[in-house]
Amino acid sequence: MASVCSLALVLLFSFLSSHAFVVSLASSDGFLQCLSAAIPNQLLYTQSSPSFMPILVSSVRNPRLFTPTTVRPLVIVTPTNASHVQSTVICGRHHDVRIRVRSGGHDFEGLSYRSERPEVFAVVDLNMMRSVRVNRRAGTASIDSGATLGEVYYAVSKASNQLAFAAGLCPTIGIGGHLSGGGFGMLLRKYGGAIDNVLDATLVDAEGRVLDKKAMGRDVFWAIRGGGGESFGIVLSWKVKLVPPPKVTMFKVPKSIDEGVIDILTKWQVVAPALPDDLFIRVVVQNDVAEFQSMYLGTCDMLLPLMESHFPELGLNQTHCKEMTWIQSVPYIFLGSTATVEDILNRTTSLDMSTKATSDYVHQAIPKDGWVKIFILLAKPNAGLLIIVPYGGKINSFSEAATPFPHRGGVLFNIQYMNFWLATTDGSTQTKWVKDFYAFMGPYVSQNPRQAYVNYRDLDLGVNVVVGNVTSYKAAMVWGEKYYKGNFKRLAFAKGKVDPDDYFRNEQSIPPLVARK
Ligand SMILES: Cc1cc2nc3c(=O)[nH]c(=O)nc-3n(C[C@H](O)[C@H](O)[C@H](O)COP(=O)(O)OP(=O)(O)OC[C@H]3O[C@@H](n4cnc5c(N)ncnc54)[C@H](O)[C@@H]3O)c2cc1C
Ligand SMILES: *[C@@H]1O[C@H](CO)[C@@H](O)[C@H](O)[C@H]1NC(C)=O
Ligand SMILES: *[C@@H]1O[C@H](CO)[C@@H](O)[C@H](O)[C@H]1NC(C)=O
Ligand SMILES: *[C@@H]1O[C@H](CO)[C@@H](O)[C@H](O)[C@H]1NC(C)=O
Ligand SMILES: *[C@@H]1O[C@H](CO)[C@@H](O)[C@H](O)[C@H]1NC(C)=O
Repeated sequence: MASVCSLALVLLFSFLSSHAFVVSLASSDGFLQCLSAAIPNQLLYTQSSPSFMPILVSSVRNPRLFTPTTVRPLVIVTPTNASHVQSTVICGRHHDVRIRVRSGGHDFEGLSYRSERPEVFAVVDLNMMRSVRVNRRAGTASIDSGATLGEVYYAVSKASNQLAFAAGLCPTIGIGGHLSGGGFGMLLRKYGGAIDNVLDATLVDAEGRVLDKKAMGRDVFWAIRGGGGESFGIVLSWKVKLVPPPKVTMFKVPKSIDEGVIDILTKWQVVAPALPDDLFIRVVVQNDVAEFQSMYLGTCDMLLPLMESHFPELGLNQTHCKEMTWIQSVPYIFLGSTATVEDILNRTTSLDMSTKATSDYVHQAIPKDGWVKIFILLAKPNAGLLIIVPYGGKINSFSEAATPFPHRGGVLFNIQYMNFWLATTDGSTQTKWVKDFYAFMGPYVSQNPRQAYVNYRDLDLGVNVVVGNVTSYKAAMVWGEKYYKGNFKRLAFAKGKVDPDDYFRNEQSIPPLVARK
């Protein structure tokens, strides 16, 4: 009963089509009955279940997206096999209840568990489907979408110390969302992004069918590798190619304004994307300090002369080098030097800090006076930080159309602008800082379209408008071309093939275009 009351309250304040909403409310009972008939009850959590809130919050990473007024799902389904996912889709279609699918819950706008608009929806939370099966001899792994990067990295390293997976840095990220949007980390210059190493996938489509690469067809298999989460169906599992990193050498070297960081960064922009592919140096900039964080696929003895010839400004010496195995580098870079390899299996994260972020791509080095101004903005009260990731090498070697992820040749680096604040405080100055910083950067970054990374989702870039029964293609171009450039139209046609009725939809899902006969 409580659930119906809170939904009715939301309804009162809704400016949106209350007609559609009433229809959905009436159909929610039928939906729940349909689920109960097909799925064991212990895998279903309605709002009145004592476990509903703990499960819903379990993989929320950003308290900004989880407040008392956040629109919550009618029910959470935690499938343990494909048939439960198929049943949820079939029940949802029949009773007009949409689905949000969640793997790791790291979506920057929380679209895997909340809706911006009042809506009746179910969350399919894949956290019980997270097995990782490594085929050592073939150098591949089959990974269920609910696995975290940490779980994948751990399983791969247990199976063989000669294998690794090229993906992002944060161990609690879910495979499902990560591979849907691209996925890049310290191995991107040598081995490309995570999507560049996907060999096959299993998708539950809007008809409730289970499709592999062959059955889904070329366009849909292309689309799910970087075309953003949710749009094409629910990806249950992925087969990926593993890569062979030898031992690695890590370093972290901070440089402040007083130590000449502005000149060093100005130089870094042209050096880092052109280094040998074995050497990756990213930069985290906060206050008046930039920390250069690196992974080199070789020994310190080999690294030092390389740095001396390409980037002597950093002053790297023996004492900065930390030689380790690839798996040790995972906690080292993201959790700090005291973290252990087992710590990357910890799925719990703190809900103390809220964040807001957005991203840009840079094709031409920013002039020195630009960096001077950037450091002035970073010195403001409540300023955020920058995470700058060099491209070049393998990730740039693919054509823009090879995958939906179009940020390839010509890209020097990706920048993420991020700000954070205590969840108990108001973040409006921090949010405004991100907005102002993004506006300031306009002249220095890619243009027409101004590119952005879909895995750093930002609803300020634009949200969908539904016209009639489907998402408007025209309105979606505003944000869609930023994420996908010229691939956006092909994505819309792929969506039109697999989900012409636009069942899988969210605030930034791909709108369907259907080719005229
Ligand atoms: C702290 C932090 C660090 C990060 N570091 C990196 C990094 O180093 N490199 C990088 O590339 N990215 C990074 N990201 C971004 C990250 O890759 C994306 O947020 C990614 O989409 C998260 O995946 P998820 O499964 O955890 O998210 P979720 O919130 O579960 O899902 C994200 C989106 O994908 C959809 N989705 C989820 N699972 C599926 C599925 N199985 N089938 C279809 N759609 C699905 C969801 O509905 C949602 O729209 C980082 C994010 C955070 C919060
Ligand atoms: C999925 O789980 C159900 C129990 O909920 C079981 O009856 C069914 O056989 C399982 N299906 C597969 C393919 O394992
Ligand atoms: C290495 O460089 C640091 C500065 O980054 C310096 O403090 C240290 O003395 C140097 N060590 C050697 C052995 O040169
Ligand atoms: C897991 O991480 C959380 C949040 O950082 C921390 O509070 C907790 O102690 C960790 N658990 C273990 C077993 O290390
Ligand atoms: C939308 O779909 C419903 C049924 O799902 C149908 O009754 C209605 O006519 C459709 N509206 C439009 C504008 O296509």
